[in-house]
Amino acid sequence: MEQYAIRGGNPLVGEVEIGGAKNAALGILAAAVMTEETVTIENVPDLRDTAAMLQAMESIGIRVERIDRHTVKITAKSIQDLVIEEDSIKKIRASYYFLGALLGKYRRAEVALPGGCNIGLRPIDQHIKGFRALGAEVKIERGLVIARAQQLKGTHIYLDVVSVGATINVMMAAVMAEGQTIIENAAKEPHIVDVANFLNSMGANIKGAGTDVIRIKGVSGLHGTEYAIIPDQIEAGTFMFAAAVTKGDVTVKNVIPKHLESISAKLMEIGCEVEESDDAVRVVAAKPLTHTHVKTLPYPGFPTDMQPQITVALGLSKGTSIVTESIFENRFKYVDELTRMGANIKVEGNTAIIDGVSQYTGASITAPDLRAGAALVTAALAAEGISTIDDIKFIERGYEDFPQKLQSLGAQIEKVSTERELQKFKLKIG
Ligand code: UD1
Repeated sequence: MEQYAIRGGNPLVGEVEIGGAKNAALGILAAAVMTEETVTIENVPDLRDTAAMLQAMESIGIRVERIDRHTVKITAKSIQDLVIEEDSIKKIRASYYFLGALLGKYRRAEVALPGGCNIGLRPIDQHIKGFRALGAEVKIERGLVIARAQQLKGTHIYLDVVSVGATINVMMAAVMAEGQTIIENAAKEPHIVDVANFLNSMGANIKGAGTDVIRIKGVSGLHGTEYAIIPDQIEAGTFMFAAAVTKGDVTVKNVIPKHLESISAKLMEIGCEVEESDDAVRVVAAKPLTHTHVKTLPYPGFPTDMQPQITVALGLSKGTSIVTESIFENRFKYVDELTRMGANIKVEGNTAIIDGVSQYTGASITAPDLRAGAALVTAALAAEGISTIDDIKFIERGYEDFPQKLQSLGAQIEKVSTERELQKFKLKIG
């Protein structure tokens, strides 16, 4: 079984390049099926999730040309089928974006029910509510979500919860609807703006993305484009917190510092120095970390996808901290693993009460999901001794070349597949 072997204790020092945003890429790849002309997308992160999206597209006859590791050309001229039930797509959450994209363009879509990280119930009722408001019939049968419409008509849609997925999906479905659609209580995450910018570059008329009211004027068709995806806020944030927990000095490059403001603010609160420049942020953790409180919120609040990473840091911060998870109801499963490394954390409902300890110790642990998996890697990098982390397939869903990037900052981490390789790693690091 593949695992990461890590010897903790080295401060991370140096510079690291951040890749394209996974969650923007997943929306943008799906949106690329909305024109028959060729679309070129740059800065696509090379991840399990993006590979699954591209594979699903090929399965219905879409031409996918990989120009280089991070550039794809997509031509959706020859779609043979509007049913996506590829095995790999069932595992990822963003499969639901094909619903909005195919429904918007072809007035019909059948897509396997979404999977993704097991961090709570994750219903898609708001997506369905939006499609229905636009005039589609939606039913769930044989594990597929089936959406059909004679015609789509612009309308007023109020989302009952602030949902990234529903906002993007309804926006895509409305792009070619007749007349104007207004989405109220929309999510404001940077990747929503990125998907809207991408669609606008294809000829859509979307205004207000990044605010809580998005206005879409239906257009008759979309055309080809060339587009580069924004940097990944969560990958950047993970390296920023890795710097903090290892008492390091890391510059994350190729980022949009504005997208990282809530993360930078919390790092400063716990005692790190954060320096921003045009497209880079440097985190220096020269002083001992101190406690704080944090509640996850929709953007521009502190992201739920950074909750495990900040919990790992607060576990090593002097004093008592409280972390409140307000987006997903089951996002503290990793705390058991962290406890095995010596953390002192009590979870009550959606709150974690953390009494900081001075040191974690290496242990054999398992990644329960994508972000918690990455956070446990940062804990192991800070810990005394050797750790192994299983189920790294979750981490590979969202972090490109994670061990290599960490090694370049001085971390002792290797991906190993056998007991022999693990022993070799232990011998090598002495
Ligand atoms: C996206 C991200 C995920 C991130 C999350 C919150 C992708 C592929 N995933 O997930 O990494 O953690 O945003 O920033 O972009 N909800 C409903 N009904 C719905 C939809 C959502 O009740 O129809 C609830 C969810 O259960 C959750 C909250 O709304 O409690 C927010 O979920 P949402 O923003 O939709 O998350 P995802 O799009 O699934």
